[in-house]
Amino acid sequence: MRYPEIDYSTHPAYAPYQSKVSYDSELLLQHIREVDDIHAKFCNLTAPSDGDATDVLAQIGKHTYQILRHAREQNISILAEEWLDSTVKWTIADLSHELARRVFSARDYHGQALSAGQSKQFALLQEQGMYIADLPADVYADIRRLALEHRPELRQRALSDRFNRAVINVAFNSPLWKSIKRAAKEAGIFDVLSELKRNRLTLLGAGLEYSCPEQDWYQSLYSDVGLADSPMQYLHVDEGDCLPKSMIYVTSVDEENGATRAIPGSNRWEISECRFRMHKALDRVVGDRYAKYVRKAHYRPLARHAELRRIFMELPKPFQGSSHFGDDVLAGTELANTLAKQEIAYLSQGGQALVFDGPHLLHRGSLVKSGERMALQVIYRNQNEERLKSHLTKETLLKDQMALARKYARKFVMGYV
Ligand SMILES: [Fe+2]
Repeated sequence: MRYPEIDYSTHPAYAPYQSKVSYDSELLLQHIREVDDIHAKFCNLTAPSDGDATDVLAQIGKHTYQILRHAREQNISILAEEWLDSTVKWTIADLSHELARRVFSARDYHGQALSAGQSKQFALLQEQGMYIADLPADVYADIRRLALEHRPELRQRALSDRFNRAVINVAFNSPLWKSIKRAAKEAGIFDVLSELKRNRLTLLGAGLEYSCPEQDWYQSLYSDVGLADSPMQYLHVDEGDCLPKSMIYVTSVDEENGATRAIPGSNRWEISECRFRMHKALDRVVGDRYAKYVRKAHYRPLARHAELRRIFMELPKPFQGSSHFGDDVLAGTELANTLAKQEIAYLSQGGQALVFDGPHLLHRGSLVKSGERMALQVIYRNQNEERLKSHLTKETLLKDQMALARKYARKFVMGYV
């Protein structure tokens, strides 16, 4: 299946801002195809070298330069031009990190000896983008007890600031942190995820979130044009490219109180790598620039604000998109029906974790209709992240990459990744 695309020129909140700028679509698509081909060829190398990575970045840079030059020649607004320029920079920074990761992977990673059960889990993770792991009962009991200690504080926060998510970072090396790490280790999650990324992974951290029906952060995005919320609201892939996740429910979760939902197999839907990354980068750029100026929730400032939608519509059509496009799916359309049919809910059955490839699998959760939900979102990172970063010091993009890491850390606290 092809990854969904939203035609913003027909979306009621965007259509009024359709731009008169006339891009050469074929030229842009040709450069996008070239970037995709160059990237795919690199990914197919068994043992990519530093030199390969540098070559690939240089080639991709030439195509993105041509894209930017073409946009500039159309006399687009200075804001649209700056968005596009920054989006390309983020994309290149993202790609450079990924290329370095693959170079290290080929050099240093020798594979895990997975058990029969882990091999099945690994196959599910590859095919469906997710699997369910059983956690040791005693460790899960500890996790639950320690996490519930934060319920009063988080509930208070959710009720006093309903326009933002109520999340706290689990403190490094706290008893809760240690229990989560032990559970992930004993359930074999580190091994399976390491095999997925072909790089040894460890715990980056965990966010503990409380959700209740009074919260409003994901609602009424397009109320200014009188458009009701999408039936697929908050359906998204995570912005961070190399951060797989697991979800551990602290309280019992059912259909009504914020179950995490996902579309199994959507991690393998056909998509342009270049555009996919550009859409994620655009989310970051706009979030950085404007989230603090948009009243109420920080979630999707672009969608909430007509002025930003106008700039968005000036961008070339292939770059109009979002990693969080679920809010933009119109009710009653074929796309809404197709997605809804394939979506499943992960309901709690004791001490388990939903392990998933968040940056590639379409998912959503925390949207509580009644009752409440407490859950831990556990994020994993490359064990050699510091080496990856220092490796990148040779590249001029290091600063962008470091900013990217800081950005992830901030978003993580906010719970939006
Ligand atoms: Fe997510």
